[in-house]
Amino acid sequence: GLVTTVAIDGPAGSGKSSVARRAAERLGFHLLDTGAAYRSLAWLVLERGLDPSVEADVLGVLDDFDYAVDVSGPVQRFSVGGVDVSDAIRTERISGAVSGVARVPAVREAVNVRFRALIAEADPGIVVEGRDITTVVAPDADVRILLTADEDVRIRRRIGDVGDDAGVAERLSARDRSDNQVVDFMTPAPGVTLVDSTHLDFDETVQAVVELVRTQE
Ligand code: C5P
Repeated sequence: GLVTTVAIDGPAGSGKSSVARRAAERLGFHLLDTGAAYRSLAWLVLERGLDPSVEADVLGVLDDFDYAVDVSGPVQRFSVGGVDVSDAIRTERISGAVSGVARVPAVREAVNVRFRALIAEADPGIVVEGRDITTVVAPDADVRILLTADEDVRIRRRIGDVGDDAGVAERLSARDRSDNQVVDFMTPAPGVTLVDSTHLDFDETVQAVVELVRTQE
């Protein structure tokens, strides 16, 4: 049948953001980076001078979380209350704060409503990437993929992105451990295809994703 929704989950540093972006380009699909929504909320909590690890602080700003995303282009822009936060949400400060925000159930419910609306509107299709897309956000997606790589490879790729920083490995592992307590993105759920990129380069990984979509069509 016709594929309209491609769900991709995976841990931090699996390369899923860049793989999802290139796969979406090749398929002519929209792209939805769900982690950016959690990052944007973490940004708002910090912007208000509140503590992202305190649930009451997070819930206190949730009603004001006026989040907008443009899913139509290859370079997505995110804004909160009209402020473009696309660059601000990529800092290590936000990476360190985001897991606290993401573990609040009311937050997950609120962003999932938005994600499902964006998925329903996407024409001709959308690639959605995150941690719980194959299991919670879009369990009925046409193609569901868990993208992984061995931890040492993920750490090396991440160091390649941000420079040789001794704290990177530790922070990456800590964030995955914390996130994985909320949703399991290390083992594929029934019906989810595991794509292990440990021995694949970027283009090969994109190709593996695109082929899974083509064989489904
Ligand atoms: O993918 P990215 O690293 O930008 O995600 C940032 C954070 O958002 C993750 O560390 C996780 O805490 C949260 N997240 C989530 N569920 C998703 C996507 C991201 O909990 N579907």
